Amino acid sequence: MSEDIFNSEFLLVGTNKVLRNRSVLAALTNKQSNDDGSLTEEEIKWLERRAHDGFAIITTAAAFVHPSGKSWSGELGVHSDEMLPGLIDLAGRINSHGAISLVQIFHGGMRAPTEITGKTPISSSRNRTKQSSTNFSRAMLEPEIKEAVQWYVDAAIRCHKAGFDGVEVHGAHGYLITQFLGKKTNNRSDEWGGTLRNRSRFLIEIVRGIRRATPRDFVVAVRISPEYPSCGVTIDESIEVSKILVKEGIDILHLSCWDINNKIQYKNEQLPITSIFSKQLGEKITLITTGSIWDGSDVNEAFNQGADLIGVGRAGIAHPDWPRRVFTADNRRPPFTKLHLSKADLSPKFIDYMQLWEGFVDG
Ligand SMILES: Cc1cc2nc3c(=O)[nH]c(=O)nc-3n(C[C@H](O)[C@H](O)[C@H](O)COP(=O)(O)O)c2cc1C
Repeated sequence: MSEDIFNSEFLLVGTNKVLRNRSVLAALTNKQSNDDGSLTEEEIKWLERRAHDGFAIITTAAAFVHPSGKSWSGELGVHSDEMLPGLIDLAGRINSHGAISLVQIFHGGMRAPTEITGKTPISSSRNRTKQSSTNFSRAMLEPEIKEAVQWYVDAAIRCHKAGFDGVEVHGAHGYLITQFLGKKTNNRSDEWGGTLRNRSRFLIEIVRGIRRATPRDFVVAVRISPEYPSCGVTIDESIEVSKILVKEGIDILHLSCWDINNKIQYKNEQLPITSIFSKQLGEKITLITTGSIWDGSDVNEAFNQGADLIGVGRAGIAHPDWPRRVFTADNRRPPFTKLHLSKADLSPKFIDYMQLWEGFVDG
């Protein structure tokens, strides 16, 4: 039953774009971009392969919208028109295989090390940060916040120009947008801090700006971490923010769960995060859920929890044709040999990076 749903087409209401099945390759940093942020053939190849082999949506790695947000070496950039030739090539090659292409637009905020950017990291507030030798971020001035909103909007316009179907705004994992959303990392007293409405203003202005600047068929997705304790992001507030985002007309809400089976306490019940969101938001929004999904029973569970689309990270790294093999027995889990990963179009650089993910690479 869930196999039939998984393999059925899905209309992204509002954009009129039709997905060929319910699979999503989630954003996966792979460290393969050039020093200036431009794409390499290796990075294009690994994504193109997954478009060719059956994923419905292909999301790029997190891509910095401004040099001050670049957070690691080999990170993709969408900060300048100089990136356009590679982006045009990538969008064209993904789309030629019938997949929908999204760029994940990103700024690291206090997690963008001075060692990479040459600047003191910026954030909603002055926060302690382990990622930078400056040890602290500095609070952005109000005009800088407005400028930063425009960085995301300009990046989205650039992605549209390049031929991408849409963007995913990276509001998850403790980066700049999460730093604005969370009570612990945002202690501003102007209109960008304080109440939840004010703390979510940065994200909402980004979404509004992108909507205004791009045609209606351009997909606007937002990825969040429903809970992010170190920034002070809580499930109740994330639901409220999501309701606002739905009203603002986003097309997709992507929940980064790490493990969809984890249950959390919510109004006297222990529930999986995706179930809570789907109950609270109802049919109003297309929900992607991602986290430790490998096989048919995981897909079934995600649908039961109310997900519309199924996101994978590691399964998609290991198996370019994961959407075609998910319901078969030939769907191995880690560890994977370097040879296996190389045949899956991971370059030596990407394989090296995957060795940092415990238990993924054999030997
Ligand atoms: C190598 C690697 C790189 C990742 N890079 C990103 C990224 O750039 N942006 C992002 O939002 N999440 C990133 N993630 C998180 C994944 O998108 C995904 O949510 C996570 O891996 C859990 O899904 P999985 O269990 O299917 O792997 C990354 C994960 C991995 C393993």
